[in-house]
Amino acid sequence: MKFIISKSKKPNFSKEEKKRIKFSELTKLNKYMFNFKWQFACIVCLLLCMTVLAVFMPIYSARLLATFTDGLDSRATLFLAGIVCVFGIIYQCLDCIASILWNNVSINSAIVIRKDLISRVNSISQSSIDNSNTATFTSRIYSDAEMVTNYPLRMTDFLTTAIGHIGFFTYIASLNIWVSLVQIAIFVVTLTIQWLRVNNRTKYNRFLKKINEPIQSLQTENIRGIKDIRGINANENIENTIIDRKIEVLSYEMRKSHINTGLRTLASISIYLLNFVLLAVCVFLFTHGQIVLATVLIVYNFRNNINNFANYIINIKELTNETLVSAERVNELFDETKYPSEKFGDVHFSKCKGDIKFDHVTFAYNENKIVLDDIGFEIPHNKVTSFVGPSGSGKSTIASLIAKLYSLKEGNGTITLDGVDVNNLDRDSIRNGISIISQSPYLFNLTIAENLRLAKPEATDLELEKVLKQADILEFINSLPQGINSKIGENGVKLSGGQRQRIAIARALLKNSKVMLFDEATSALDNVTQNNVKDTIFKLAKNHTIVTIAHRLSTVIDSDKIIYIDGGKVAAEGTHKNLMETCTQYHDMYDEEDINEDSNAKSE
Ligand SMILES: Nc1ncnc2c1ncn2[C@@H]1O[C@H](COP(=O)(O)OP(=O)(O)O)[C@@H](O)[C@H]1O
Ligand SMILES: [Mg+2]
Repeated sequence: MKFIISKSKKPNFSKEEKKRIKFSELTKLNKYMFNFKWQFACIVCLLLCMTVLAVFMPIYSARLLATFTDGLDSRATLFLAGIVCVFGIIYQCLDCIASILWNNVSINSAIVIRKDLISRVNSISQSSIDNSNTATFTSRIYSDAEMVTNYPLRMTDFLTTAIGHIGFFTYIASLNIWVSLVQIAIFVVTLTIQWLRVNNRTKYNRFLKKINEPIQSLQTENIRGIKDIRGINANENIENTIIDRKIEVLSYEMRKSHINTGLRTLASISIYLLNFVLLAVCVFLFTHGQIVLATVLIVYNFRNNINNFANYIINIKELTNETLVSAERVNELFDETKYPSEKFGDVHFSKCKGDIKFDHVTFAYNENKIVLDDIGFEIPHNKVTSFVGPSGSGKSTIASLIAKLYSLKEGNGTITLDGVDVNNLDRDSIRNGISIISQSPYLFNLTIAENLRLAKPEATDLELEKVLKQADILEFINSLPQGINSKIGENGVKLSGGQRQRIAIARALLKNSKVMLFDEATSALDNVTQNNVKDTIFKLAKNHTIVTIAHRLSTVIDSDKIIYIDGGKVAAEGTHKNLMETCTQYHDMYDEEDINEDSNAKSE
């Protein structure tokens, strides 16, 4: 079989990616790293004790070796063997306590930062979310956050082990300085090669993490959208799309691996060569009577301690580099300029009447394409106002702006709620006062009751039943073996489109906001059910501001006011009767629907 990827690729690192990451990226996150000071101090103490043992264990092992060459004294040998054994047991016990404490600190530290990151993501503006990938958030909340909070612990571990090695080398230096000098040379060579290797890895990892995010998101989407993919037999096409992108990443990874392997091999070869030199020096010194056989044995037996020591230093370097990359990514998520938050004012409404007014509103998602063009209208309280018009004309955008999912820029008109600019209202006034129910609502992979209680956690079962009945879905839910406690799959995949819509309507009824925006919220319902739900929605107008956006005119003709939107402008407004007389587009739309319904009736 031929290789799929045989050629590695060198990335074009941007200036930004080549720049060294400042240590301040990490210190900015200090408060998350040192939350559990006492427990952390205990771990440091335990590791220091272990370090002392780690220094003495090889020294006693070395002395033990020496007893064999210095004319065997069985008592001394057994005594030293006993010491090595006891040290070993104590070391393992300390290690056990430190590890348990470590796990507790590490898991708890990660929770604190994750909580803040999740809440930060929840506050990011809708347009920023629209322009991002899911993986951008998940990888930072999970792997990067953990990397940062674990840094002090892992660093302490590496540092104490490295200190242990220094203790051992000091002991060797006390035996013979020339041997020690050769060891230092080995250490320097190994360290230099490994240093280059780690710097290269870090540069690549930083780049790879970034370009992997959209692919990871696409993989998630592939699972989410698998029904549609299967529906058009596009499995292979989406797999190819993902694989093609992955191939590019993997060819960079291959380059990273090649360089890494090359440098690692170079390090290993130099260790063999330098160990040969070390042994040659020992033999020379021994034959010239400068050192005793025991020292040669000790040096030979613990020769790998030198590269282990270099590796520990490199681990510290690599851990720091990797953590800096993660810290930079976590800080980016906290960065307002990169991911701006939703902005709210400080005017609070404990109750609102529900009068909405658009005054010379102009809006664009992207600078270059105006979606709403100097638009103005009023939506009175306790009435039903409906928006109709061609697809893409800007109806859903109007609903999103009322619910303040997107904000108007200064100078682009005003949207007011009871005379107050929505930009000046605080979050609770907006989000508790206005609900939006979309055409394809999101339902979580929880039970029906849990999905409903997202809107009102304290709602009783009786309240749930009431809203489900109003949304004409109670009968169906009662027919399920587990009733309202049935799980509905990711995004309600186990339900039909119409059932999902009705549960979402029930959820909004439970929330009972003063202003309710139904954006084609009943589009997937059959005529009979749609009429039932429509009755419920229209009845709400007794004490709510109701806005409906609908495709089927039959569901809006009874509205108190209908606004016809075309190309981001108000083409006409009035009652159904007015519009039939004054708005030809509306009239045509009505006729079209009438014809369709007539032909449907005939074919039935
Ligand atoms: N999140 C978004 N980002 C960028 N453009 C968008 C976004 N949502 C909608 N649009 C664009 O805005 C225009 C109006 O869309 P929308 O208000 O959804 O129309 P309607 O609901 O009338 O069918 C469309 O051209 C659409 O492509
Ligand atoms: Mg729409």
